[in-house]
Amino acid sequence: MLKEKGKIEHEIWSDKLTKVYGKGDDAVKAVTQIDLRVEPGIHGFLGPNGAGKTTTISMLVGAISITEGRATIRNEKAGSVAAKQLIGFLPQDPTFYDKMTGEEYLIYMAKLGGLRTKEARKKAQELLAYFDLFDARARKIGNYSGGMKQKIGIAAALIHEPKLLILDEPTANLDPIGRADVIDKIKKLSDRVSVFVSSHILSEIEQMCKKVTMIDQGNIVISDSIANIKRKFVGNVFVLDTNMNKQLLKPLEKNENVLKVWLDEEDERIRIVPKDQEKLQKMIPKWIIDNNAILFGFHQPELSLQDVFMEIMSKKEEGGPTESNSDLSLNDRKKSKKEKSEKKSKKITFKEGDSR
Ligand SMILES: Nc1ncnc2c1ncn2[C@@H]1O[C@H](COP(=O)(O)OP(=O)(O)OP(=O)(O)O)[C@@H](O)[C@H]1O
Ligand SMILES: [Mg+2]
Repeated sequence: MLKEKGKIEHEIWSDKLTKVYGKGDDAVKAVTQIDLRVEPGIHGFLGPNGAGKTTTISMLVGAISITEGRATIRNEKAGSVAAKQLIGFLPQDPTFYDKMTGEEYLIYMAKLGGLRTKEARKKAQELLAYFDLFDARARKIGNYSGGMKQKIGIAAALIHEPKLLILDEPTANLDPIGRADVIDKIKKLSDRVSVFVSSHILSEIEQMCKKVTMIDQGNIVISDSIANIKRKFVGNVFVLDTNMNKQLLKPLEKNENVLKVWLDEEDERIRIVPKDQEKLQKMIPKWIIDNNAILFGFHQPELSLQDVFMEIMSKKEEGGPTESNSDLSLNDRKKSKKEKSEKKSKKITFKEGDSR
């Protein structure tokens, strides 16, 4: 099939993209041979703390060197001037000129991007209005709230009209209202620009994106549309609700039909990934009675990304291949002892409001 003229297939593309920090015994393999395929639209980049999101993004925007492999931004080599011009970037910890007002800052950034004063002011005011910062335009950025700072950061990234916006955890450290506002603004931007946005909060990504790439320990765990991911994994997580959910967790962990069990922090019901689905379904009602509990419900829910990720991770911990990446356990085994012990001590924090 002929490609539509001028239409880009991949906003971001990479082949075995790898980053090793340091040398010798101190070397840290932060990103391992990842193949990214990011199509136009809003694409989520998920992973727990330390997964390698910022490292990947830093290579894509040309802020750090690529150790091995290659990457392109809309067919231009990552790190090249041509690629940089296509990108608007908000880093994880942006720094601002706190003494400048919001408007002064955007005009300054626009002029750096080559606009004349009049055009720069027009563009700045348009973006201030879009981000609901017009009334705060004459206030110093140092006095802005966290949410306002993130929005002025995104506005600054947009000032030279990039084709692709790369946002590294734009909602981190915001309160729920600030978060919802930033998410809403990012979603609406998809009409005019593609967005690659990282987060460790699955529910947030689910609100913004149709497609996601999940990474963990520098490897891609899964990359697909959220709908496909859920379809692939539907049927493997059960919800169990009783009058004593917390007390049943320990005995369930030891049950031969249970692969993974945890308590959902939001609804406080039990989630179970079975070893053998049929056996689990047959066993649960009697098992509940035997444990002197009252059964309120036992069913397979519509999955959240959180459930899917927990399931993928449970298969990975078991050492078995996942549906999405049969190399995963192999990659783990290849890791050094040091990395393995770091892995053990690392908690996967994939919940809204987790401390960072
Ligand atoms: N400059 C550096 N030198 C050495 N190691 C580094 C450096 N930057 C990151 N790392 C390591 O690389 C790994 C990936 O870190 P990275 O910051 O890319 O993760 P992340 O997914 O962005 O995490 P977070 O959600 O906490 O922002 C971690 O083990 C981290 O300690
Ligand atoms: Mg990061």
